[in-house]
Amino acid sequence: MQGLIIIIKPSSSKLSSSLVVVVAAMMLLLGLAGVAHGGGRRRLVVSSNEDEPCRRMTVYYHDILYSGNNTANATSAAVTRPAAALSTSRWANGTYFGLLVVFDDLVTEEQALASEPVARAQGFYFYDRKEALNAWMAFSLVFDSAAYRGTLNLMGADLMAEETRDLSIVGGTGDFFMSRGVATLSTKAIEGAFYFRLKMDIKLYECYV
Ligand SMILES: *[C@@H]1O[C@H](CO)[C@@H](O)[C@H](O)[C@H]1NC(C)=O
Ligand SMILES: *[C@@H]1O[C@H](CO)[C@@H](O)[C@H](O)[C@H]1NC(C)=O
Ligand SMILES: *[C@@H]1O[C@H](CO)[C@@H](O)[C@H](O)[C@H]1NC(C)=O
Repeated sequence: MQGLIIIIKPSSSKLSSSLVVVVAAMMLLLGLAGVAHGGGRRRLVVSSNEDEPCRRMTVYYHDILYSGNNTANATSAAVTRPAAALSTSRWANGTYFGLLVVFDDLVTEEQALASEPVARAQGFYFYDRKEALNAWMAFSLVFDSAAYRGTLNLMGADLMAEETRDLSIVGGTGDFFMSRGVATLSTKAIEGAFYFRLKMDIKLYECYV
């Protein structure tokens, strides 16, 4: 009730004061409903400064491609191969143009593959340039730990010639309900054609807290 009185006081015009009463009554209702569920409602927080995301975390993405004999260890598989005419000319020159890979990759908090997992990255990427190595990705980070439950959904061009690339975070669920932001990727390791590690600096600019 304290909050309700404080809100009404500064309003002068009849219209705005009746509006405030309605809003305050709604807040009271929502507040009571929240209490009935044993906790407060989450509210939208929007960052007003690029340097101050409302939530930030760094994770590492590990992609182990199926190589023909690592069945148990592989977390990703090439599901398409380009037509023969393209694969011979383009694969030979290292662009992988037309190759689509589906993955269920481990995501960790520390760099090492064997470190504590925090999420899975589930989705796909494909190589989309004839002239150079370049990819496009779409996936969910699926969190299911003591710290977080829910998903973040990422998509966009992985401009592999750049040292850092930004993917859009287009939404989220659970602890990341309705989140939006940007994930800055950088490649931290490449072992042959069958393993690479990306650092993902996740910055959310819209959060429900
Ligand atoms: C598995 O495949 C890789 C590359 O394709 C090869 O270097 C390695 O020797 C193979 N390992 C076994 C146990 O066959
Ligand atoms: C691949 O081939 C294309 C066409 O011949 C060429 O323009 C391009 O530079 C080559 N890319 C690489 C990475 O060698
Ligand atoms: C699984 O793959 C990673 C990345 O290539 C490699 O470092 C690791 O030794 C592999 N583990 C096993 C058990 O094969």
